Amino acid sequence: MVKIAPSILSADFAHLARDIQEVVDGGADYIHVDIMDGHFVPNITMGPMIVEAIRPVTELPLDVHLMIKNPEQYVEVFAKSGADIITVHVETCPHLHRTIQQIKALGVKAGVVLNPATPAEMVRPILEELDMVLLMTVNPGFGGQSFIENVLPKIETIREWANTVNPSLEIEVDGGINPENAQKCAKSGADVFVAGSAIYNHKDRKQAILEIRNAALN
Ligand code: DX5
Ligand code: ZN
Repeated sequence: MVKIAPSILSADFAHLARDIQEVVDGGADYIHVDIMDGHFVPNITMGPMIVEAIRPVTELPLDVHLMIKNPEQYVEVFAKSGADIITVHVETCPHLHRTIQQIKALGVKAGVVLNPATPAEMVRPILEELDMVLLMTVNPGFGGQSFIENVLPKIETIREWANTVNPSLEIEVDGGINPENAQKCAKSGADVFVAGSAIYNHKDRKQAILEIRNAALN
């Protein structure tokens, strides 16, 4: 089972509902929402108000990726705004286990994100508590960057560990995903594929989703 999560970071913000509807019609499985604070990452994007505004647009799960400092202060407001999955960066969470429990107590699926240079070991002790591990395949902050190939072995490692302790764990990849590298990520064990520019810069978004899905299934 392969899931495609278009990132609305590359959508037209003046026509967000339209651009979400297009990927929903195109077969998307999740809507990936990139929250950036200008501190943890050098860019500012959107906040809970946008999550709340897009919530009625689709029934698809909203996959909310928090690239913010002190995420524990904001998980509740994002949950109340309609997030279905909340992922937090290990680099921002000194009390990672507590933050994950906090997200789960809000009735939301919980995931941990690792930057490209952060080792798999950082998440190993709490792997069985998680619904998702998100492996960044670019340094977070911007859409349209190039895929970092040496994250592939980390996908394999996490999938291998998860097979024993948490077989239903979703492994999501995010950053520079296109059909070619989606296939490599899938072979390494990823099953959820975020794509911003590969979908929104494609003239036919349905076709773009299909190409990534087919590549990942092969
Ligand atoms: C990067 C974000 C990504 C981004 C992906 O910091 O987390 O979700 O939108 O965009 P592309 O697919 O263009 O790399
Ligand atoms: Zn993201």
